[in-house]
Amino acid sequence: MNHISPIVPSPLTEGYRNKVEFSWWKYISAKEDIHDEFRFWFHAPGQFDRIIDCSYCILADEKMNAIFKHVDEYSRLSGLATYDPKTGEGFWRHLVIRKSRKNEETMVIFSVNTNFPWWTRKEEWDFRVYANTLQKKFPEIVSIYLLCNTGRADIVTGEAILIDGKTTITEELLGKSFEINPKSFFQTNSLGAEKLYETTIQLVTKEEKGENKDTILLDLYGWTGTIGILLSSYFKKVYSVEIVKEASEDGNRNAKRNGIDNIEFVNMKTEDWLPLFLESRNNTPVTLVVDPPRDGMHPKAVKDILSFDSDTIIYVSCNPATLVRDLTILLENDAYKVSDIIPVDMFPHTHHIETVVRLIKIKKN
Ligand SMILES: C[S@@+](CC[C@H](N)C(=O)[O-])C[C@H]1O[C@@H](n2cnc3c(N)ncnc32)[C@H](O)[C@@H]1O
Repeated sequence: MNHISPIVPSPLTEGYRNKVEFSWWKYISAKEDIHDEFRFWFHAPGQFDRIIDCSYCILADEKMNAIFKHVDEYSRLSGLATYDPKTGEGFWRHLVIRKSRKNEETMVIFSVNTNFPWWTRKEEWDFRVYANTLQKKFPEIVSIYLLCNTGRADIVTGEAILIDGKTTITEELLGKSFEINPKSFFQTNSLGAEKLYETTIQLVTKEEKGENKDTILLDLYGWTGTIGILLSSYFKKVYSVEIVKEASEDGNRNAKRNGIDNIEFVNMKTEDWLPLFLESRNNTPVTLVVDPPRDGMHPKAVKDILSFDSDTIIYVSCNPATLVRDLTILLENDAYKVSDIIPVDMFPHTHHIETVVRLIKIKKN
């Protein structure tokens, strides 16, 4: 039985989220056809047709709650209607507040229906005036956007128009800086993410003496390549493989911003890219970090990562069930053993847990 290390705690257990999404909604419940005309808070867990009230969100900090309250009061008095998903009419849709923990910068994003007739009658109400009032009341707001959200689906999307302030806010993680725009992908608990990445770096570099300039790092399911960026100085080259194009683009920008030129972002499915890379790599030693989504790895990818004969495989998981499933396959031929299991609490007050596992190759006599 492997020893499981104590859970690495999140530095903050309340107010730790750097992004919170609120919704305006015309119904208490669309399914039961219960109207309120004006509901503005969160969707009930797992229910996308029901909005629940919540007097204070403990996962957002005091300032985010205060901004929400200000916008709530304002939007009720504005005379503009809440968006009705059944008819496609109404104005207010979502409010997103993003915040960088290190630099204390806040970005506010209003997702609104710009098909609303008011939009063409600017004299009726000037949105910029309100944005200005909000910014004066909360000086930490350095960026305000309007998202022209005209589609029927209940998602935060649309063309982003800068109303006031800077185009981006900047977050720092372990000494590297990351730019966040209204649509950027970013871990939602910045201080917790530092703990997760510190743990990952500690396990990748365990028993290594300094930099490993002969080895290539594969950052698989890399998202914006944060793991690859933070580990790039230890390796000759890093490949960060990710399916979502915009996430790879964010990663590329952040690598450039930090002056890192030995990372390549590959916008492909891991299971499709691995056989291509296996064919072309010329036996260069490889270290692997895999951080798949909740569904875990594609079975083809699990088999392929064994073919690298790498000394170390780090598996970062957000779902213990698929972690166990994939580890069972990785361990079945006695090529690897588990050396470390470190859980990290990135999401206090929820049942979610991240786990970082280090596998090492079993030396054959
Ligand atoms: C848990 S997240 C990775 C987080 C990232 N390593 C970080 O530290 O921020 C999983 C990522 O895998 C991506 N993904 C899902 N299926 C994929 C696939 N078949 N191939 C490559 N990437 C995939 C998702 O888009 C998501 O960005």
